[in-house]
Amino acid sequence: MANLMGKYAVVTGGGKGLGAAIAGRFLADGAMGVALLDMDGDLAAKTASQLDPAGKKALAVRCDVSDAARVEEAFAQVATAFGRIDILVNNAGITRDSMFHKMSFEQFSQVMNVHVNGMYHCARQVVEGMRQRKWGRIISMASTSAFGNIGQANYSAAKSAIIGFTKTLALELARYQVTANCIAPGFIHTDIIKTVPEKVMEDIVRTIPMGRIGEPEEVAALAAFLASGDAAYITGECIRCAGGKEK
Ligand code: CAA
Repeated sequence: MANLMGKYAVVTGGGKGLGAAIAGRFLADGAMGVALLDMDGDLAAKTASQLDPAGKKALAVRCDVSDAARVEEAFAQVATAFGRIDILVNNAGITRDSMFHKMSFEQFSQVMNVHVNGMYHCARQVVEGMRQRKWGRIISMASTSAFGNIGQANYSAAKSAIIGFTKTLALELARYQVTANCIAPGFIHTDIIKTVPEKVMEDIVRTIPMGRIGEPEEVAALAAFLASGDAAYITGECIRCAGGKEK
């Protein structure tokens, strides 16, 4: 267990998959409040009520992270409810997989907008408060795909941008005792892998040294550690959670 007693967190893409697992783990580890931001407000509300049936600690907020104005409104709503945000998890993501020679600019830019612009908009909302309070955690989901993956030129570009952004943020925020780290999950049991054709998936699983797909809870455990006081001196890192798969 990580100790997140008294902490307030925002998890983007919190309605399902990794985001829901991370939100659940944060609550189990003592977080005082976790806001689940998701494009699908109904899904976020359903997940929030499953994680926190009493309705006191999990807050569902509809938010498309690529929409700057909506992000501002969403974080204002969270600030009113929680008073402050100690932990931001940039988890919201989409795939538009295609071989690059067939990839449209729309497929490229949609993925960049959600991952990269979304990370910018959300981080801008929390950084000032974290600097002032001299405590904060910004955890962003990269991916083993950042290091190359067939069919994901757009996603690889976005995930590499997340790593570079995090490393610079870590340097700028270190003097305020605010950390910024990435997690690079490999193939994890979430909806995102459902788009991969079965034959391709069989080939992929053969490249995973542990020989299995990971579970969302295994990624959530790492997020909880990075969010906790135990990880206070770890910043600017990108940690794989991928069963030994390098890319
Ligand atoms: N490894 C080995 N070979 C691969 C491959 C892979 N990862 N991906 C595709 N290929 C091969 C195919 O087997 C095929 O080979 P043949 O021509 O010899 O049959 C060739 O490349 C072309 O592939 P498709 O026939 O599938 O081409 P397509 O245009 O119909 O589809 C695609 C292309 C959409 C990229 C599809 O192959 C696909 O979905 N691939 C998986 C992409 C992927 O790994 N996505 C990760 C999703 S999980 C995630 O994103 C989370 C995370 O952080 C890791």
